Amino acid sequence: MYFIANWKMFGSTNSINTINKVISLTKLSKFRNTKIVYCPPYTILEKFVKKTKKTKIKIGAQNCHYDKNFGAYTGSINAMMIKQVGAKFIILGHSENRENGDTDHIINLKIKSSLNENLKVIFCFGEKLSERRQNKTYEVIKKQIKIGLKNVKRLNNIIFAYEPVWSIGTGKILKNTDLEIQISKIKSYIKKNFKIKNPKILYGGSVNPKNIRSFSKIKLLGGFLIGGASQNPKKFIDIIKKSIN
Ligand code: PGA
Repeated sequence: MYFIANWKMFGSTNSINTINKVISLTKLSKFRNTKIVYCPPYTILEKFVKKTKKTKIKIGAQNCHYDKNFGAYTGSINAMMIKQVGAKFIILGHSENRENGDTDHIINLKIKSSLNENLKVIFCFGEKLSERRQNKTYEVIKKQIKIGLKNVKRLNNIIFAYEPVWSIGTGKILKNTDLEIQISKIKSYIKKNFKIKNPKILYGGSVNPKNIRSFSKIKLLGGFLIGGASQNPKKFIDIIKKSIN
């Protein structure tokens, strides 16, 4: 099971010690197969890499520029630079970045340049509320996946994250039965159209210690992408414990 902590634009140089208890958790045999990935802001990526060096926790970035080379892109960072500081994962296609101008095509380029650097990609997609209301959820997701993965090789280094946009940071969630149907459809679509035997599909959107037990009943899920609750170590640990038990 994957537990990806997406810290978004939160966290300072002092935040590093908040992960001590999570590090201790990963040393318990019960959590041997738990894959924890912290995705802090760029400014503290390297600090997190150093802190977790001798642990099973991995570090990821939250986005990158699509150009694989250095270039005149003020304020940007590319996959090569992220790899250089020791991060192993990268979140791409997050709705907050789609909102800021990332098109499916740009996301496709970012995925390619990240895989080229041997980063594992956490590829996010999901429908907006208006699309859901028009019954376009599956159509929207298929398009995002199809263009996002166009001509992409090394598909096995991609982890998929279904995040309904209307669920992110809102406390609103899908009914379990609906989510299960959605995940199963996404999985079949990926298996059928891309050469991935057993794609890992995570869920993201308002995951918290209260709703995790119900989410974790969905056996098709390969883990969770957690925003708000992941910044609080107590909540994050609670989520992990409850989904493993
Ligand atoms: P949330 O964020 O858990 O705060 O809803 C999830 C995400 O944006 O990945």
